[in-house]
Amino acid sequence: MHWMVKWAGAYPVFVEQASGAHFTDVDGNRYLDLCLGDTGAMTGHAPQATVEAIAQQIARGITFMLPTEDALWIGRELERRFGLPYWQLALTATDANRFALRLARQITGRKYVLVFNWCYHGTVDETFASLVDGDVVPRRGNIGAAVNPSETTRVVEFNDLAALEAVLSTGEVACVLAEPVMTNIGIVHPQAGFHEALREMTRRTGTLLIIDETHTICTSPGGYTAAYNLEPDILTIGKPIGGGIPTAVYGFSAEVAERIQQKLSVDHADTGGIGGTLAGNALSVAAMKATLEHVLTDEAYAHTIPLAERWTDGVQSVIDEYDLPWHVTQLGCRAEYWFCENAPQNGGEAVASMDDDLDRYMHLAALNRGILLTPFHNMALIAPQTTEADIDRHTAVFRECVERLLAV
Ligand SMILES: Cc1ncc(COP(=O)(O)O)c(C=O)c1O
Repeated sequence: MHWMVKWAGAYPVFVEQASGAHFTDVDGNRYLDLCLGDTGAMTGHAPQATVEAIAQQIARGITFMLPTEDALWIGRELERRFGLPYWQLALTATDANRFALRLARQITGRKYVLVFNWCYHGTVDETFASLVDGDVVPRRGNIGAAVNPSETTRVVEFNDLAALEAVLSTGEVACVLAEPVMTNIGIVHPQAGFHEALREMTRRTGTLLIIDETHTICTSPGGYTAAYNLEPDILTIGKPIGGGIPTAVYGFSAEVAERIQQKLSVDHADTGGIGGTLAGNALSVAAMKATLEHVLTDEAYAHTIPLAERWTDGVQSVIDEYDLPWHVTQLGCRAEYWFCENAPQNGGEAVASMDDDLDRYMHLAALNRGILLTPFHNMALIAPQTTEADIDRHTAVFRECVERLLAV
């Protein structure tokens, strides 16, 4: 996996085994894991209920291209959590987003997708676009793009309602694909009224709203959507919902489901650019049922969110103690510090405040002291098995890393 070259240090740590909030490397070093597979293991590693369900299902067959009854339970549970009645399965959040975009273009008959500058929604062609001096250009590092994303995509800064209105009012945009809080360029919160305005504008202009909850499921068992009463037309989510077994879902409102039905030809359903042979396989579905039923529960969040608060308070206390021009912010059981005084309000501001050297120093210094942070920025995610002692250990390590930095 080529991203592994971006971990701090000359080589990635090789894992021997993991359980709960900790893992051990092949040299026998034990780490507190605050990366948790960049949310894929937000359940903690090897959660017991999921492991048992996987073992049972593996012995009964892994994939059939036919449903198992677990799918019925999952559909009802996803509706209870996110408020949308119809669900489809994919293997990754990337795929869920790709399929949602295709469906949105198909049923609206419109060409463009709108995303926020410096978003990340997986390896989805349409989303690798940046805003430079008002123009949509390929995002840096975009490998082998089939077309210039200016042909497929409109980009505005997060929290810029005037720009959003200007683009949506053209009537050319099929859908907005958004994380409800940006999490992949650091955590960028929506300003007051942003979501209400986004929903009003998308409805008024006939634009579908796709909310990607893959990371923001850290907010509550129903993600940011349930916690803040969002009303997306389509919702996508992957990563932790199968406890780490590849699986993802995308759900729609009844109205969207009906429009899809009108526009789909069943005769050609197998070549429509949506789906995958292993999507909805029995193993993924069993893992998802066990994870939703027993692991990503209300009780888990009642434990992890206060711990993320404790982590945030600990980091803030060190920032205050050393009067650092840094900032710390939290979203549910996720938190992050920034090397700038005020919280960035959009992706462009976030990128401008990045400091790669400082970032790598903090990551490597923490790793050498037994703590793994999420790579590419300074994010911590709390697992149901993380303890207060783990959090206080992070605060102590953070203080030590800062002291060493200031001593140079
Ligand atoms: C918000 C969001 N959506 C989608 C994805 C894609 O997930 P995957 O790489 O598992 O397909 C990511 C990955 O980081 C993400 O952060």
